[in-house]
Amino acid sequence: MKVLVTGGAGFIGSHCCVDLMTHDVEVVVVDDHSNSSPLALDRVAELAGRELASYAVDVRDPAALDAVFREHGFDAVIHFAARKAVGESVEMPFEYYDANVGGLLNLLRTMRAHEVGRLVFSSSCSIYGDADEVPIREETPARPASPYARTKWFCEQILADVCARDSAWSVMALRYFNPVGAHESARIGEDPRGVPNNLMPYLTQVAVGRLRELSVFGDDYPTVDGTGVRDYIHVMDVVEGHRAALERMDAPGFRSLNLGTGIGTSVLQLLAAFTQVCGRELPYRIVARRPGDVAELVAAPDRAARELDWRSRRDVLDMCRDAWRFQQRNPQGYESA
Ligand code: NAD
Ligand code: WQD
Repeated sequence: MKVLVTGGAGFIGSHCCVDLMTHDVEVVVVDDHSNSSPLALDRVAELAGRELASYAVDVRDPAALDAVFREHGFDAVIHFAARKAVGESVEMPFEYYDANVGGLLNLLRTMRAHEVGRLVFSSSCSIYGDADEVPIREETPARPASPYARTKWFCEQILADVCARDSAWSVMALRYFNPVGAHESARIGEDPRGVPNNLMPYLTQVAVGRLRELSVFGDDYPTVDGTGVRDYIHVMDVVEGHRAALERMDAPGFRSLNLGTGIGTSVLQLLAAFTQVCGRELPYRIVARRPGDVAELVAAPDRAARELDWRSRRDVLDMCRDAWRFQQRNPQGYESA
């Protein structure tokens, strides 16, 4: 099987490439490196024990993407390439629609021209917004609350419409909850540019001394200890879900599936787990709520279990241990090399 992975140098994409390549899948990457280091792909090749073809291409570039499809005959595509910072999407909505919706449209156009119909699409729990029910099922009404979340929701609807009309397509939208952690080798991991927006990379950077203290955004939510509750999921579990999806794409049509653990963890609970693996207390301060945050987002993971025969296997301590090991061995991320 030969698979195109867009955004393959990014956090989730790089782990997905290693997982596929170590399971006899041939991988080709396109990534414009707008949010990733090309060094990640060297590490992927090293871990997989073989080379992979990669192209510094923007998925919105029709001629460049077409050239990649002409060179390779793909059986399927996994589309990670997108912009993903929620706050930034409020500041620059056009750029988010252009990259995320525009990127998908060009990809679909190119896939159709080359008669490639199987697609796994990166969706997000953020489409649910402030959900009416927790755990969140796929049927829970979407209520996207940022331009970023709306790009993912609109992409899903585009894909559903395309599949409804043409049985040549088989598409799965995987709605990830909060992917964290790193490959157990600590050679690849999460390496955000600038100050991290997300909790786990913020914690690891406090622990390694790059940041002074964690700001806990609010302790007055109606949750177990007042801090926000999320469904953190190990990135290796997420990518194993993609392999399971690829193996089950024979039927035409559009499906959306949550990828989560079904277990909620508060900010203070994650901090406690992280403290346990790193072996010392980390400085933190309770500050105001972050605008746009919700109290609790936890997946009902049953549909993926049923349809993909996939379940998460790693727990919060595994996530903290692997994230911490990557940060320790790569204190400045890939640029430490
Ligand atoms: P990431 O930023 O680490 O990876 C995305 C990759 O795509 C980067 O390497 C970037 O350089 C590349 N890219 C961006 N725009 C591109 C373009 N126009 N052309 C080519 N390459 C481009 O992000 P990630 O955390 O690995 O996320 C992967 C996907 O999963 C994204 O679609 C994201 O929206 C989605 N997602 C992520 C999370 C999360 O918390 N990390 C949660 C839910 C969904
Ligand atoms: C987790 C919890 C914060 C940082 C984001 C996107 C979502 C999806 C996953 C892409 C919350 C708290 C955080 C900090 C804190 N990504 N926090 N101090 O917001 O659940 O989800 O990533 O699709 O779309 O919105 O993740 O890691 O930012 O926050 O207290 O410095 O940690 O308030 O309760 P979030 P996060």
